[in-house]
Amino acid sequence: MRILALETSADDTCASVVDGQRVLSNVVSSQTEIHKEWGGIVPNLAKRAHMERIGPVVEMALKRAKTSMEEIETVAVSLGPGLGIALSAGVNKAKEIAKIYNKKIIGVNHVEGHLWSLALQNKAGNPARAFEFPLLVLTASGGHTKIVLIKPTPNPSLEKGGGEKRFVYEIIGETLDDAAGEALDKAAKMLGLGYPGGPVIERLALEGDEKYLALPQPLNINKVLNFSFSGLKTSFYYKVRGMDKNEVDLHLRDLAASYQKAVFDHLERKFKLAIIKYEPKMVGATGGVLANQTLRNRLRKMARTSGRQILFPAKKIYNTDNAAMIGLVGGWKASRGEYDEIESLDIKPNWEV
Ligand code: KG4
Ligand code: ZN
Repeated sequence: MRILALETSADDTCASVVDGQRVLSNVVSSQTEIHKEWGGIVPNLAKRAHMERIGPVVEMALKRAKTSMEEIETVAVSLGPGLGIALSAGVNKAKEIAKIYNKKIIGVNHVEGHLWSLALQNKAGNPARAFEFPLLVLTASGGHTKIVLIKPTPNPSLEKGGGEKRFVYEIIGETLDDAAGEALDKAAKMLGLGYPGGPVIERLALEGDEKYLALPQPLNINKVLNFSFSGLKTSFYYKVRGMDKNEVDLHLRDLAASYQKAVFDHLERKFKLAIIKYEPKMVGATGGVLANQTLRNRLRKMARTSGRQILFPAKKIYNTDNAAMIGLVGGWKASRGEYDEIESLDIKPNWEV
């Protein structure tokens, strides 16, 4: 069953064709160039770019998947969480396609997509992963930072009845303010490094001294599994403001390394506490921030000391926003008959997973 999926919740215009977990095409048109000079996403510019690009991006996704519209069973689209006017561009396009080509439509939660990016496979069906539950996933991007405990639905027989969830998601920790990616983006903006901040900071940090600047550990209490990044950002801001311009320029790499370390210490510490407390069978980590190799290495090592192997999405491009993850979850919902009505389908900018 082939699904055409659309994703426009932030600054990437994405379309994909998937068949179950297999990704037949995955097109991402990034708006980085547009938002770069503003240090963050400018909603109106994002909306306009999505509207201009979504048509060609959908066409390219079909072409690359060597799939005609007739072969598409359902259109899946990300409803949220995300930026309202950006989400609308994708949802309106999905509705238009469903109406013109007489397709079924399904709305998908963006964070649920990020969680299951762990299950995306290439055309040949690799990697084939057997998930064991409870599965504990850290997902961190520019819009969210959460630790989610995933269990199969308590009564599997209900799965066939439709309407019943296949998985139960328990959010056991989440950010109380900024997301981890947002924290990196804001620090990059302070240092004049442009947007998005994560990749630039990663590059600079590789050559920097992470002990250069001492930064606080947020919510440093063992029983708290939530995150907070805004104090860290403020502390960094005041320290950088107290330095003269030449000093900042000279120590850009050290500042990037120190700040990145503080953000990753926080992520790792809370994730480790969650693993100890919930004793999951398997652990995974997804979302834009997990495109960072330094973080992946740290989490891999931490998981190993707890006797577990950690799963990451098979390709780095599945970490950042993409429509394949929306198509995967959409396909699962389709197999349970969980379709939406075209007319009443609407964006959900604050939708909890
Ligand atoms: O998942 P994503 O593409 O979009 C959202 O749902 O937000 O994540 C984007 C976020 C941005 O904050 C970006 O700075 C961060 O992920 N990011 C990274 C890296 N690549 C992207 N953070 C750290 N290291 C990276 N290599
Ligand atoms: Zn995302």
